[in-house]
Amino acid sequence: ENESSVSITVVGASGDLAKKKIFPALFALYYEGCLPKHFTVFGYARSKMTDAELRNMVSKTLTCRIDQRENCGEKMDQFLKRCFYHSGQYDSQEHFEALDKKLKEHEGGRESNRLFYLSIPPNIFIDAVKCASSSASAASGWTRVIVEKPFGRDSESSAALTKALKQYLTEDQIFRIDHYLGKELVENLSVLRFSNLIFEPLWSRQYIRNVQLIFSEDFGTEGRGGYFDNYGIIRDIMQNHLLQILALFAMETPVSLDAEDIRNEKSHTRGGVTHPGYTDDKTVPKDSVTPTFAAAALFIDNARWDGVPFLMKAGKALHNRSAEIRVQFRHVPGNLYNRNIGTDLDQATNELVIRVQPDEAIYLKINNKVPGLGMRLDRSNLNLLYSTRYSKEIPDAYERLLLDAIEGERRLFIRSDELDAAWSLFTPVLKELEEKRTIPEYYPYGSRGPVGAHYLAARYKVRWGDLG
Ligand code: BG6
Repeated sequence: ENESSVSITVVGASGDLAKKKIFPALFALYYEGCLPKHFTVFGYARSKMTDAELRNMVSKTLTCRIDQRENCGEKMDQFLKRCFYHSGQYDSQEHFEALDKKLKEHEGGRESNRLFYLSIPPNIFIDAVKCASSSASAASGWTRVIVEKPFGRDSESSAALTKALKQYLTEDQIFRIDHYLGKELVENLSVLRFSNLIFEPLWSRQYIRNVQLIFSEDFGTEGRGGYFDNYGIIRDIMQNHLLQILALFAMETPVSLDAEDIRNEKSHTRGGVTHPGYTDDKTVPKDSVTPTFAAAALFIDNARWDGVPFLMKAGKALHNRSAEIRVQFRHVPGNLYNRNIGTDLDQATNELVIRVQPDEAIYLKINNKVPGLGMRLDRSNLNLLYSTRYSKEIPDAYERLLLDAIEGERRLFIRSDELDAAWSLFTPVLKELEEKRTIPEYYPYGSRGPVGAHYLAARYKVRWGDLG
């Protein structure tokens, strides 16, 4: 095992994701001693670059959590020595054959294992998979390919993509990333639920009134208008990140923690400054009707969740950046203290908040007596704030996911039937919105989003927990 080699080829090495996430994550893994002894990193892209230029680029974009640490510079130099660059077209067998040669040199006759990270636009995806798998597959060990969304734009295009991928790769070789599944608190969701008696029995319509999945960002689509306008917020965030969280939240108990068992269960079921508006962005068509905010109510058709609204909202250019899960519990029947709570009974129910980011935390709102001679109740938090409870830094989602891919752990990756199920939920509404060219409700940059989100929630007698 020690004598086998692992190479990681980042296809699309000069792109945004590679610079912001993939290289920093690889470096963090190296720093932590998690990469195998014989590893090599290759950047692959069309532009001409020398190894030295790639190293320079990688060192400059090092934005990972490690850059404040001791020895960072030294470790960085060691890491960079293992990074190389190969320039080539994404659809050229010949260029991938040349890469294959270089990889072989680095493998030096050891067992070869190759991971390709495709960080390229969907229109060149299949060509690259074809070339990589036919001209640069590992001769002896495994070959795996990590792919990033967008996985199509609806059920049909996604199915076509899957079909094309499967011409060249088996399902076992395909690692579909949803980086939200690599976030610490999303991973913790199952632990919280399945290993705590005070939560597990409550996880159903009997005790839960509604569940909210909220994503907000305090910046717009700056620089990514071209991509974003083609997809919109429903495809960018809801159909994948929020729906994945919903599936993990609501699934039945998996038979075991095995990847296939978990994936089986899931598939069942900045103010003050003036910012340019969305269509002021030069990369966005003036008459665009692509939504940058969306809210939705979903229901799960099984006995556990009958009638419980799962509300999602996701938006760009809002007042804050956050991602959280809010679980609002039912009222205590015949609560003895109702009259001490005040008029707003809704505000007095328990709420469990799982804050995925920033400032990771889990807190539970409970009713408590305000100290003093009178009898007045208020809602207070039992608070688990990660930064005070745990001294260890939280790894970036990409670190966990890359390591899992290297180790062949599939639990946090999306299987093709899960992807089909996710698309089948959103394709009809996407089609309808697009056919009718529905004009989205406007909201100012840096606001809390359009009022329509409140009306939607009110229809299900829900109040968004993040708005107080
Ligand atoms: C990506 C979306 O998947 O997730 C982006 O394409 C979004 O639009 C990003 O900004 C958010 O990720 P994170 O980890 O910063 O919350």
